[in-house]
Amino acid sequence: MSDAAAPHAPKKSLWAKHAFLEKNSIWLLIGILLVVAIGGLVEIVPLFYLKSTIEKVSGIRPWTPLELAGRNIYIREGCYNCHSQMVRPLRDEVERYGHYSLAAESMYDHPFQWGSKRTGPDLARVGNKYSDEWQRQHLADPRSVVPGSIMPGYPFLAQNRLRSEEIAADLTTNAAIGVPYSDEMIESALADLRAQADPNADAEALQKRYPGAQQRDFDGNPAELTEADALIAYLQALGTMVDFKLYDDKANIR
Ligand code: HEC
Repeated sequence: MSDAAAPHAPKKSLWAKHAFLEKNSIWLLIGILLVVAIGGLVEIVPLFYLKSTIEKVSGIRPWTPLELAGRNIYIREGCYNCHSQMVRPLRDEVERYGHYSLAAESMYDHPFQWGSKRTGPDLARVGNKYSDEWQRQHLADPRSVVPGSIMPGYPFLAQNRLRSEEIAADLTTNAAIGVPYSDEMIESALADLRAQADPNADAEALQKRYPGAQQRDFDGNPAELTEADALIAYLQALGTMVDFKLYDDKANIR
């Protein structure tokens, strides 16, 4: 291309430089990576500084040791294959499940359980929706409470003793990746785990460490601490930590 034909074209030397890139694929690749990296940084870096993406939400606390043990069972049994835990900000979802999920609500989840498949309903706000008795019945034999349900039964959960020996190590691991479990929480993990499933245990220490934790015998069998205790404690806590009345009055989010 001559200068006469394209009066506003860049100077010849620039064309020559670009010809170099076009003829040397490795340098072209390096050039592409550089440009894409800059583009990516421009999009991603502000997210770390924007207030709206890292908004502090009051009420969010780490899982109690019993809820964490229940979460592990939820993952072990593959509940996420049929259930999501994320209410999207779409009208039909908000009307069915409740307030859409906030990023902060899963910030202590490693790995998060947003899921990608809804064979069953979303569970992000299932906490306190049903009684413990309903959850027990439903887990043991879904069709006994929801005729026509295709959810498999998990009757063994109420029989299996909850393995809690490694709960302190579990908290330690979560602390290592940023969940604010203090040394005190880790030290008393096993005691807290037992206390939450025992309505006669001292509630004060547990409440101090995990404000709002529900404390009772979740599986209806006070003689034994079972996997159903842990899983139901977890289910009943899902989506209950944020008091949306505070937010809706102020910001009218919904
Ligand atoms: C094969 C798919 C499947 C799997 C796996 C599954 N579920 Fe479900 N679940 C369903 C379906 C379908 C429903 C809706 C019918 C019903 O209530 O039983 C449901 C309903 C529920 C509900 C009631 C939700 C509501 O708002 O009414 C809860 C709670 C629940 N499941 C928990 C679990 C847990 C915990 C696990 C793992 C131990 C699990 N599910 C595994 C399919 C599944």
